[in-house]
Amino acid sequence: MLTLRPQKKRYTQFMYAQSDTDTLTLLDQKKTNTRIMSSKLNTVTVIGSGTMGNGISHVFAQCGFNVNMMDIKQDALDRAISVIGKNMDRQVTKGTLTEDAKQQSLGRIKTFTDMAAAVANADLIVEAATENIELKLNIFKQLDQHAPANCILASNTSSISLTRIASVTNRPGKVIGMHFMNPVPVMKLVEIINGYATDREVTQTIIDLTTQLGKVPCVVNDYPGFISNRILMPLINEAVLALQEGVAGINEIDTIMKLGMAHPMGPLQLADFIGLDTCYSIMHVLHMGFGNQKYAPATLLANMVQAGYLGVKSGEGFYKYTPGSKELVVSDRFASRVWS
Ligand SMILES: NC(=O)c1ccc[n+]([C@@H]2O[C@H](COP(=O)([O-])OP(=O)(O)OC[C@H]3O[C@@H](n4cnc5c(N)ncnc54)[C@H](O)[C@@H]3O)[C@@H](O)[C@H]2O)c1
Repeated sequence: MLTLRPQKKRYTQFMYAQSDTDTLTLLDQKKTNTRIMSSKLNTVTVIGSGTMGNGISHVFAQCGFNVNMMDIKQDALDRAISVIGKNMDRQVTKGTLTEDAKQQSLGRIKTFTDMAAAVANADLIVEAATENIELKLNIFKQLDQHAPANCILASNTSSISLTRIASVTNRPGKVIGMHFMNPVPVMKLVEIINGYATDREVTQTIIDLTTQLGKVPCVVNDYPGFISNRILMPLINEAVLALQEGVAGINEIDTIMKLGMAHPMGPLQLADFIGLDTCYSIMHVLHMGFGNQKYAPATLLANMVQAGYLGVKSGEGFYKYTPGSKELVVSDRFASRVWS
């Protein structure tokens, strides 16, 4: 989750090489106030309130949309509201959001555990539930059944085929990928993925919406991993393989990539930040989708996921995370090399 805030600036620079000024003004209060909201889209339902769902809800609410945030777990919704509040507090402290605007934004977010109720008045749905194809197909069948006929169904999936997702609905022309980056409130890119049947006017609506959110749209076609994760995830997987083979330790691998390649965050730290379960699922989609052994997920990655070491969100991955501490500490399991 966003507990890795101290790394935020470096991570943002890694992904975009953008200036601090750009980052800080992304959700600048003045810009938010002058932004014109789409007349077509007023209510956005976000499915899933985890790492990405809370960030997506935050951004839409701050930009004036009514947000219905839905999750199957009430505690995930409670946590998401608390995280959004804390992240908005930081914006208030920085002077990029007024206390009044914060209260108004939070007031626009409603929470639901019932999907039919959450989507009943939605103009747009952004699905950000766990990266699992069967789960997403099931969700989209239900969304198609309960959402208004004109509602656009977007997925924040990192790798799963939008064409496949669209095929389980009766509105494939209205299904599209809207792939936000983590952490959503500070990352400028939205990778927009056209499914094979996506209507061009739906793509244009999502491009316009992305711009209204103060972000930069990039449209790509529907191939496994799209562009972002087709390139990023094999890099992360290779770093895990190098660790697994004992070529070097965690500090060495991440330091080499940071100091040698000017990456602001090493690949193993980035994997922890994304979530190792999400990384594993994306590699699996690339492996199956291209049928090429070069995308096979590292065994160490698979083992860590099976054992529940998911990175920041579970408190431990390659590094160990103590609430309130900014220090980057390699997990004891790797420090003592019992993993090899
Ligand atoms: N983590 C990242 O850095 C990142 C970046 C870009 C895109 N994504 C994508 O965003 C999506 C969500 O990833 P995340 O990292 O937020 O995962 P997460 O594990 O942090 O959160 C997933 C949430 O989905 C909820 N959920 C599961 N089944 C559900 C259902 N049937 N209905 C409603 N909610 C349900 C879970 O309770 C959980 O709160 C995935 O598709 C992932 O690939 C992740």
